[in-house]
Amino acid sequence: MSDLLNKITQIKQNVLSDLSTINNADDLEQFRIKYLGRKGIINSLFEELKLLDKTLKAQVGKELNTLKNNTESKYRELLQKFSEKNEFRVEDPTLPGRVYNIGTKHLITQALEDIIKIFVKIGFKVYDGFEIEDEYHNFDALNTPEYHPARDMQDTFYLNSEGKDKRYLLRTHTSPGQIRVMEMHQPPVRVIVPGKCYRNEAISSRSLAMFHQVEGLYVDKGVTFRELKGTLDYFAKEFFGKDIKTRLRPSFFSFTEPSGELDVECYLCNSKGCRVCKYTGWLEILGCGMVDPNVFEFVGYDPEEYTGYAFGMGIERTLMIRHQVPDIRMFYENDIRFLKQF
Ligand code: PHE
Repeated sequence: MSDLLNKITQIKQNVLSDLSTINNADDLEQFRIKYLGRKGIINSLFEELKLLDKTLKAQVGKELNTLKNNTESKYRELLQKFSEKNEFRVEDPTLPGRVYNIGTKHLITQALEDIIKIFVKIGFKVYDGFEIEDEYHNFDALNTPEYHPARDMQDTFYLNSEGKDKRYLLRTHTSPGQIRVMEMHQPPVRVIVPGKCYRNEAISSRSLAMFHQVEGLYVDKGVTFRELKGTLDYFAKEFFGKDIKTRLRPSFFSFTEPSGELDVECYLCNSKGCRVCKYTGWLEILGCGMVDPNVFEFVGYDPEEYTGYAFGMGIERTLMIRHQVPDIRMFYENDIRFLKQF
């Protein structure tokens, strides 16, 4: 019998007696370090095994492996036992549940969805349009000639300078969507075009350089101004509530004739007149009118055969009225206390 074999028998005894004293995870960890650690007893026995004579190596090695395996499996058994206990301690059934904060849609998105629903209900289709447009679709085809002030650098974000190439820009309104739709489809067309628009504005409580609009367009034989008025009235009542008062006021847009603007009563002063409504009692929410025959010429519709109406509303402005938001910048500051209210 080799010395090593005697040692193994002795260690086996020690392991068993040590095991009987383990009461918790800390004891167990001490046990692991002592016997199974990298510098532990069992590894040192393996070092000794290397020095052994070949004839004995096989037999002693087998004993040593058995010791190692048994010690490891005991260790794992206890580890399981103690960690189960731990888990049980963590799962205190009297603790309150975890709170997961689920985000919601931004109120601009909610409003766009609401508006889309209102128009889809009466037969409008939705067209996406492009945020990057060319001068032709944003201005020329909308009967807005080169000398028109809206084309000024002061108002429009141009993406390249004038040259022999097309001049691109960030659309200043959703109206180029009208042109795109009419270029693609013959009448009847009945669409809304929701999306972002950009203007080089001084930032204030009433304007931002980026905002949202929803464009509407309906072209067919015999479309009248009265239908436009009826549709806008329907929209205002659905969106703001049955009791909302609106008024249609004459205005000018180069792509509609005649043109109008829809006002709703000022929410702040109940139409009595205040700073927000500039003492008029009314707030403007959209521009509209009958599509100018010149625009029909640009897209190849026969103005003798077809008439149509168009409108474009500002979403932020509209929401400021609906929710009594005093400053347009609040929509984009991402203050949770504000956003949470919607
Ligand atoms: N595009 C116009 C604007 O941005 C609104 C409008 C749309 C007016 C359609 C008439 C018809 O102010």
